[in-house]
Amino acid sequence: MLSLDYSKLLILAVVIAIVLFWPPKNKSFHRRGIDPGFLNLKVWPARIWFLLRGRNIVEQAYLQEKDAPYLLQSLNEDSLVLPPKYLPELRMLPGGKLSASEALVTSVLGQHSGVDVVLKDRQHYDIARVQLMRSLPTLVPILSAKVDSILSETLAACSTADFTHVKIKEIVSALVLRTTLLTFVGPELCENTELQWLVEEFTNIVRDMAIFLLFIPKFLRPVLWPVLPPTARMKRLHERVRRILFPKTEKNVKSSRDFPTVIDHFVATSEIVDEKEIVAKFLVLMAGALHTTKMSTSHAIIDLCASPECVDELRNEALAENLNDLPWHLDQVSCLKKLDSFLKESQRFNPPNYLSFDRIATSTFTLQDGTAIPKGTFISMAAGPMAMDPGYYEDAQTFSATRFCKTDESAVESGAEKSQWAHEFVSTESGNIHWGHGRFTCPGRWYASAVMKVVIAQILRKYEVKFPEGQRERLPNVYLDLIVEPNPKQVVRFRARE
Ligand code: HEM
Repeated sequence: MLSLDYSKLLILAVVIAIVLFWPPKNKSFHRRGIDPGFLNLKVWPARIWFLLRGRNIVEQAYLQEKDAPYLLQSLNEDSLVLPPKYLPELRMLPGGKLSASEALVTSVLGQHSGVDVVLKDRQHYDIARVQLMRSLPTLVPILSAKVDSILSETLAACSTADFTHVKIKEIVSALVLRTTLLTFVGPELCENTELQWLVEEFTNIVRDMAIFLLFIPKFLRPVLWPVLPPTARMKRLHERVRRILFPKTEKNVKSSRDFPTVIDHFVATSEIVDEKEIVAKFLVLMAGALHTTKMSTSHAIIDLCASPECVDELRNEALAENLNDLPWHLDQVSCLKKLDSFLKESQRFNPPNYLSFDRIATSTFTLQDGTAIPKGTFISMAAGPMAMDPGYYEDAQTFSATRFCKTDESAVESGAEKSQWAHEFVSTESGNIHWGHGRFTCPGRWYASAVMKVVIAQILRKYEVKFPEGQRERLPNVYLDLIVEPNPKQVVRFRARE
């Protein structure tokens, strides 16, 4: 009798918990894709549909009703996709109304994998925006020398006689991982293969943890995450990274360096140096920097192969700016205007993500046209379709490498805004939210742009780069939900120039 009462109480408690904690559905917006329905009972069909058709749903919605907001059940969150007309109003809203970091954490379910360390303060953002940017004049020549040595090593088999086939993913991974680590941890540790493996593994564990959590109702996640297998893996990973970055036998590695690393900046800007917290922030910042830079660099090299008519002009610009093939300097890199424009166009065609400008409404607020945004709403905008919108870019479907560096009036008409920086890869014009937009725009974009320009300029100077025999166009990108990745099967041929 007593045990029966307990079981009834348990059922009642579960029902109350479900009713109390199930997210309320926002009924005031039209929905695209599959509605997860009452009590989210159809959330899995909605998620799977999104996984397979996310890009098409976003594209169709933009073509049919560009100015209408709509709800879309993504893999994790129910997102409110807002039209670009709201961008001027939303872009500078403060953290008290919109938070980009909270959106980042929510999108990878990072509350349980330690990604939420970015919500503690703005240290990671400020270091990328301020210290890293200030270091660029010192860093660029050092990174340039590193790019050369990685290229010589990974393309050692390459001669002036024959083309060598290389998987784009492999060469770009080596270039981006080792240069980013050089910046973050310095010349000794950047070649530590254990650390190289650990920083890549971090992203895998965050992904695995998110997948596990998707199968667990929200209200049970705080109870169950500590016993999930990825949690133990993540704990061990943090410990191993800490032992490498902060060894107990203190040897003064800093003394042999010409520049302060990102880890040095974390230490210098911490009121109290908490090694565990620095490791957590280091891993998140590395992960953000690595994936995006790898994808963009791969797309750019593939676009060089797809647009052989651009190569001579881009190469001549690189040769003219750096006559003697010495390590690149920041002021020389800044003069590579045609390369800037080429990279912008490559990004326009291959955006990092089909949705961008991810934000969480941190309080309820009303837009000027009366649209109410409830607290907790996950907001995004259709970055992919915006980039192909003829309203923003003339002849939008054509890849035009010089689109952003034309000096005549047509540059303005074709999407580049009338500013002396409009050609720059890091600039954002109407229609471009690939670096985000407004108050929280990517703070690492100057760094990413400098590294990518050095990589592409050195490839142009030293190698001929082509698709395999018979291939004329890019292999189609891979679209998984809204992530846009270069085709992993893409191989390119390199031949050393005389
Ligand atoms: C091609 C490479 C990159 C792309 C396309 C990219 C793109 C983005 C985008 C779209 C955002 C969100 C901005 C917004 O919503 O307004 C972002 C945020 C951010 N990015 Fe980048 N990024 C790149 C490279 C980097 C690098 C190399 C670093 C660091 C060195 C970096 C550090 C950050 C940080 C700290 C944030 C803010 C995260 C937060 O809100 O807590 N990014 N990036």
